[in-house]
Amino acid sequence: MNRILIVDDELNMRLVLSAMLKKEGYEVAAASNGSEALQILKSGPVAAVITDLKMPQIDGMELLDRVSQKYPNIPVIMITAHGTVATAVEALKKGALDYITKPFELEELKNVVSKAIKTRDLKENELLLPPEEIERGGIIGSSQSTMDIFDAIKRVAPTTTTVLINGETGTGKELVAEAIHRNSPRKNNPLIKINCAAIAETLMESELFGYEKGAFTGAVLTKPGKFELANKGTLFLDEVSEIPRDMQVKLLRVLQEQEFERVGGIKTIKVDVRIIAATNQDLLQSIRKGDFREDLYYRINVFPVNVPPLRNRMNDLLPLVDYFIDKLNRKLELDIRGMDDAVTELLMRHKWPGNIRELENLMERMMLVAKTNVITVREVPSEFLTNLQDNVIAPFSEDNASFKDFMRTHMENVEKQMIIKCLEESGDNVTRAAKQLGISRKGLQLKMIKYNLRK
Ligand SMILES: Nc1ncnc2c1ncn2[C@@H]1O[C@H](COP(=O)(O)OP(=O)(O)OP(=O)(O)O)[C@@H](O)[C@H]1O
Ligand SMILES: [Mg+2]
Repeated sequence: MNRILIVDDELNMRLVLSAMLKKEGYEVAAASNGSEALQILKSGPVAAVITDLKMPQIDGMELLDRVSQKYPNIPVIMITAHGTVATAVEALKKGALDYITKPFELEELKNVVSKAIKTRDLKENELLLPPEEIERGGIIGSSQSTMDIFDAIKRVAPTTTTVLINGETGTGKELVAEAIHRNSPRKNNPLIKINCAAIAETLMESELFGYEKGAFTGAVLTKPGKFELANKGTLFLDEVSEIPRDMQVKLLRVLQEQEFERVGGIKTIKVDVRIIAATNQDLLQSIRKGDFREDLYYRINVFPVNVPPLRNRMNDLLPLVDYFIDKLNRKLELDIRGMDDAVTELLMRHKWPGNIRELENLMERMMLVAKTNVITVREVPSEFLTNLQDNVIAPFSEDNASFKDFMRTHMENVEKQMIIKCLEESGDNVTRAAKQLGISRKGLQLKMIKYNLRK
């Protein structure tokens, strides 16, 4: 039985809330102030706390502080008076799960409380299945970071909690979003994607909410928007930082109330949509710059998933290479078996600013030009080698020792291959080759002696 604790100094409010919640099948405990609430919390299990903000002595904000410290698994919902959204946002920052504004409707209360219960279950769900058991959704990798991502997907997929995926370009954010949807109870309903950066500001509203026939010139038919299409499913808001300011307000409303009107329409449309957002921007910085609404941020950032850049999980590199060789062999009808050690080392030394997408593109390019079924340094594009010199990475955080051995054994081979390539490209012009390698002419000559490359 889920027991909900109501904290309000007004008797009337306590009675109304109790009645509403009991009608929904919850057990209810009520307290008229903060200290009474803390007593009740001590005396038995509580599934969620709903508290008023303004109360004598221990007010809602302080109660929130104490609950999040002592009972971090118990979600807290704030009741605020109309027009105190700033305080409500403050409460969300401090860890409140949500807030409802007086006067509220039964429906709203029901939604918020059932979300709270689900969140609590999520937090308490310690019995994690091994990552192999969730559908991997085409996400390759065995580094700790990738395991953490699987773990996050596993935890959040069964819920309706809003997810914010953060990560550099090409790290696999969209794959993560797909995996969450595919592992969720909504998997047989639509996953609708919208790239907020790709839609003109003027079209955004009709894109998201649809429009009624005659709403504007050219609107000859009524058309549903992405929110309607995603009903009972998931809506993926990609590059969410790019939503224009005035759309952010409208989005906030749908996220809060799960309802909206089509452009040019008066009928309110109710939907049940799970939101997953992604961004490669630092949203906190966008907030500081005034480009992103803080209240929207806290609405979206309920369950953050960070997808680290490839350079911070280089243990994933070789499994990804194998995977792409396989995938591209099929796509391009090739029979590439692998790449030689020198190429492996070059890839290990690269910083991968474009992350996994960059790796996939590079593999495709090298496989297409490979002369045998093994990729060699000859296939490595020269821009890649040039970039490498500015982009050599720092030692890895994971698996440092074995990497050092690896580098020690193979470094010279790489250096030799790079010199051969640069000499070839420059038509054996030592000055030009040295320049491309970023070393002195003299230095190059010494290395040519060392590697027996002098003609
Ligand atoms: N872990 C992974 N395993 C296999 N393929 C991956 C992985 N991560 C990314 N990819 C592939 O890399 C490419 C880029 O991934 P995705 O589009 O998901 O990145 P993104 O983070 O959304 O990038 P952007 O910010 O540029 O939109 C895709 O082709 C995807 O299939
Ligand atoms: Mg993407």
